[in-house]
Amino acid sequence: MTALGVALYASIVSAVVVTFEPYIWSNVEIGGGGGFVPNIIFNPSSPGLAYARTDVGGVYRLDPYEDSWTQLLDFVNDTNANYMGAGAYALATDPVQPENLYIAVGLYTNSWDPKNGTILKSHDRGESFSFIPLPFKVGGNMPGRGLGERLAVDPNNNNILYFGTRSGNGLWKSIDAGDHWSQVSNFPSVGTYAPDPTDTSGYNSDITGIAWVTFDLNTDATDGSSRIFVGVANMGSDNVFMSTDSGSTWTAIPGQNNTFIPHHGALSPAENALYIPYANGVGPWDGTLGYVMKYFIANGSWVDITPAQGILDNYYGYSGISVDLQRPGTVMVAPSNEYYPDANIFRSTDGGASWTQIYSYGYPPPNYVGTKTPYYKFDVSAAPWIDTFLTGNSEQVGWGIQGLAIDPHDSNHWLYGTGLTIYGGHDLLNWDASPRKNITLASLATGVEETAVQGLTAPISGPKIVSVVGDVGGFVHTDLSAPPLPFTNPIWPGTASDVDHAGANPSNIVRLSGIASSSTVSVATSTNGGSTWSPYAGAPSPSENIYGGKIAMNGSPFSTVHGLQSNAIIASDKLNKTIFYAASGSQFFVSTDGGSTFEQKAVLGDSTTPVRIAVSPFKTGELFVSSDKGIWHSSDPGSSLSSMPGPTAAWSISVGKASSLTSPVSLFAAAQMNGVNSMYRTDDLGETWARLSTTQDGLGAVDFMVLAADPNVYSQVFAGIGGRGIFYGHS
Ligand SMILES: *[C@@H]1O[C@H](CO)[C@@H](O)[C@H](O)[C@H]1NC(C)=O
Ligand SMILES: *[C@@H]1O[C@H](CO)[C@@H](O)[C@H](O)[C@H]1NC(C)=O
Ligand SMILES: *[C@@H]1O[C@H](CO)[C@@H](O)[C@H](O)[C@H]1NC(C)=O
Ligand SMILES: *[C@@H]1O[C@H](CO)[C@@H](O)[C@H](O)[C@H]1NC(C)=O
Ligand SMILES: *[C@@H]1O[C@H](CO)[C@@H](O)[C@H](O)[C@H]1NC(C)=O
Ligand SMILES: *[C@@H]1O[C@H](CO)[C@@H](O)[C@H](O)[C@H]1NC(C)=O
Repeated sequence: MTALGVALYASIVSAVVVTFEPYIWSNVEIGGGGGFVPNIIFNPSSPGLAYARTDVGGVYRLDPYEDSWTQLLDFVNDTNANYMGAGAYALATDPVQPENLYIAVGLYTNSWDPKNGTILKSHDRGESFSFIPLPFKVGGNMPGRGLGERLAVDPNNNNILYFGTRSGNGLWKSIDAGDHWSQVSNFPSVGTYAPDPTDTSGYNSDITGIAWVTFDLNTDATDGSSRIFVGVANMGSDNVFMSTDSGSTWTAIPGQNNTFIPHHGALSPAENALYIPYANGVGPWDGTLGYVMKYFIANGSWVDITPAQGILDNYYGYSGISVDLQRPGTVMVAPSNEYYPDANIFRSTDGGASWTQIYSYGYPPPNYVGTKTPYYKFDVSAAPWIDTFLTGNSEQVGWGIQGLAIDPHDSNHWLYGTGLTIYGGHDLLNWDASPRKNITLASLATGVEETAVQGLTAPISGPKIVSVVGDVGGFVHTDLSAPPLPFTNPIWPGTASDVDHAGANPSNIVRLSGIASSSTVSVATSTNGGSTWSPYAGAPSPSENIYGGKIAMNGSPFSTVHGLQSNAIIASDKLNKTIFYAASGSQFFVSTDGGSTFEQKAVLGDSTTPVRIAVSPFKTGELFVSSDKGIWHSSDPGSSLSSMPGPTAAWSISVGKASSLTSPVSLFAAAQMNGVNSMYRTDDLGETWARLSTTQDGLGAVDFMVLAADPNVYSQVFAGIGGRGIFYGHS
């Protein structure tokens, strides 16, 4: 054989035939958000234009006529930006040319995120972006992400932008509309505060840094605004700085109270004043003391306008704040961390001299337990589950409120982000009526899909899909375009970790809690396709503190398993309920006695980390195993395994309905092929693969995807995407 022949032969054996298949993707509607929304930013010049920035799920633009939101960052993938670009740390909408949008993206500044941050720049309200790489990391999911905004466009010269960074990188400036950036070297502080300087992971020990940048609209000069305010996360040293010469020099504002950290700087141009809420933490889940200050720019005086006075009331910090630009002196402020009895939002119409609250709460002695009298009517019809998933029926105002915004063009319209959702309403002026009228507190998060999917199962009959998700439990989805109902009995007020159904009897479903609970068992079952649930009595009791991990179901009672390591992955045969499969390291195990004992049957080549076992719902013993080295296939209940051509690493996999009777099986895989991480499908056991177009080629990080193929519809697959809820796609 010639040398050329050798080379040709080598490339034939290693290359895989991969075609490209366009897919149509939509969200399975959960609605209501399902995750933290650090801030909501209205454009001051263009009515109805607003953005909601999330910490792990990208950025949404408001559709003001529909009261719904459209995701803008689904194009983010491993290669075009930082794939962790779904973490939106800061956002600026241009007050001069409202089409312009800037977003600083990146998830973590510690080792969890390998890449530096990016500034995404758009000239069409986020329909398309260019990428400006930054020489440092950006922390969209880090402590203090609800401070801001720390990215701002100068309203007196929109070529000028400032960006306040973390990790000691200081204040940065661009004079060419975000295309180039340099550090403001004479800015006096890069920040000192970190929530926990001893945290060796680097997460809580990272310096929070610059908190916000606010231009003084009233100071138009040749180089843009001459007066600029910058807040820094310092506690106990100067933390509000000002320039009066367009950024040439900076000084700490005299007379400031720097005991706690300034969260936002809200300018009231008509009052010529700056409102600043403070807390003794950076949020979102901390802060036990705080105050609110008003700085009068003309005479340089500070006035303490803290709403809650006295020890009994003042046990939280202040964060979300907004002034009504149409009504000088009208301002609202939210507590950052008031859980008991509930977050109580304040409103003033006299510039902070006096305040009223969204509910009243008395403290009758001797036990200081009050009664909550709401001045709001709760409306969660857009996503009923957000009220009931936690405690049944709480009508809660929220928690972690760091972003609150009154529409600059409509005094009745307001929005705020919480740890769970976006609330708001269209009748805010009812608050000021005399006698006082209720406002409507509505879930206004339609289109925001921020849940982090942990597990999916698609039974062949009954609901279309059952999901378990981070933070808010999970859902039974019978209609893909309507909000689902949350789990009950038990409600797990937090992360659930896995779900499975019995193949031979698909209405039997099992779910597993992902958090420790002293009150509820960690396993629940349904025998009617998820309509009703019961705690599973045969599961370990709460006191054994067993939770999390993976679960597989065949209908037999639970018992302790023999012959498996605790880190093993498991799956049930979908047709023969005595057969279970398991894998750990490079070893593959089969149980033929309902999971009581497992025996090693085959090996997964040189794999070290098996990820998923996907079992056919159509044929006993037809199964696939993904691992760090590829995908293996068996059709003789696991006695032998063969490596499939194509994938060099794979994560979530799922067996779907075959294309025709001649096609043995259809397999979906989040995998690496020819060096490309993407979602693939094969209808011929790996002879050929189709790379499925993901939403604008994004869909986040492939290794975090959770796939469940639809057993009823050829080509259809459900995909849980980190921080973006559940998608379904088909060709
Ligand atoms: C991030 O930027 C710094 C400064 O330019 C550079 O030294 C570093 O290599 C970059 N890191 C990555 C992962 O690109
Ligand atoms: C600054 O705020 C702290 C905390 O609220 C308070 O104890 C202190 O008295 C304030 N200092 C001044 C000078 O007002
Ligand atoms: C500063 O100006 C504000 C607004 O005009 C006024 O209410 C306040 O009394 C002034 N403070 C001082 C110390 O002059
Ligand atoms: C406001 O709504 C609450 C229910 O959330 C109700 O109890 C109360 O009576 C209402 N108040 C008024 C003035 O309508
Ligand atoms: C299920 O599998 C077991 C163990 O391999 C086997 O003995 C049994 O015959 C199978 N049952 C059916 C209905 O195929
Ligand atoms: C990432 O997205 C870009 C378009 O922004 C696309 O050209 C590229 O193929 C995508 N990469 C992957 C791996 O999907």
